[in-house]
Amino acid sequence: MADERGASRREFFEQLALVTGATVLVPAVTACEPKPTEPASRRTAPTGSGTAPRPAARRRVAADPLAVPAAPPTGWDAMAFNLKRGEAGAIPAAYLLQIKAPGGDHKHLGKHLPYVPKVSAKLIPGGYLAVMYGDPSKGNARHPSDAPDPARKYIGHWFNWIKIRKAVDGAAQELNNEYPNWPGTSDADRKSHYAVFGGGDIKADSGKNTIYLVKLPAGVKAGDTVRVWGHCLHHGEYVDFLTV
Ligand SMILES: [Fe+2]
Repeated sequence: MADERGASRREFFEQLALVTGATVLVPAVTACEPKPTEPASRRTAPTGSGTAPRPAARRRVAADPLAVPAAPPTGWDAMAFNLKRGEAGAIPAAYLLQIKAPGGDHKHLGKHLPYVPKVSAKLIPGGYLAVMYGDPSKGNARHPSDAPDPARKYIGHWFNWIKIRKAVDGAAQELNNEYPNWPGTSDADRKSHYAVFGGGDIKADSGKNTIYLVKLPAGVKAGDTVRVWGHCLHHGEYVDFLTV
């Protein structure tokens, strides 16, 4: 009996160790929402068994060159930030060459920075923000748009997603607005995603009058600062902070 009790106690502690190990590991993987400053492509689940981190693990917490701040840091410079992040991989290398050419900052990088155009409130549904790309009042080129052309395997040119969240440190809801087509597969589809600056045909003037209708997270109100993080099909990701 004594041997049997001893064996049972060993089995009990072995099972307890297994259970304890599971309860330590599971929350670290599933319960931690990624920090807003960490791009999804760089987020990794914790590994290891709870022992001291190895040098490789310590390297992972070093500053991420693709990280995006949740709120504008002091002295925020959208051109400088997006150039640096582009060099880290957010902008295709071939396009970086055009950005770095003389005048390329406004002609190419500024062209991909968002701004809020002055338009009639009638054009914009409640709970949405009007967003355009390439603010001419800042000397930036206006971003054109183009439709896909399957006949020549051309994917088109526009911002196919725009993520938006209130620009505050800590947790905040972020909405990912998707634009799967430009100018839309039907009139109704177009109107649900876009408006036209000045009215008329969205395809006029190389699609430069395209207004993206960006749904705001709940609770965001006029006067709030939001982070607008968008992706151009050809030219990569760009981030800036705007006032609603
Ligand atoms: Fe573009």
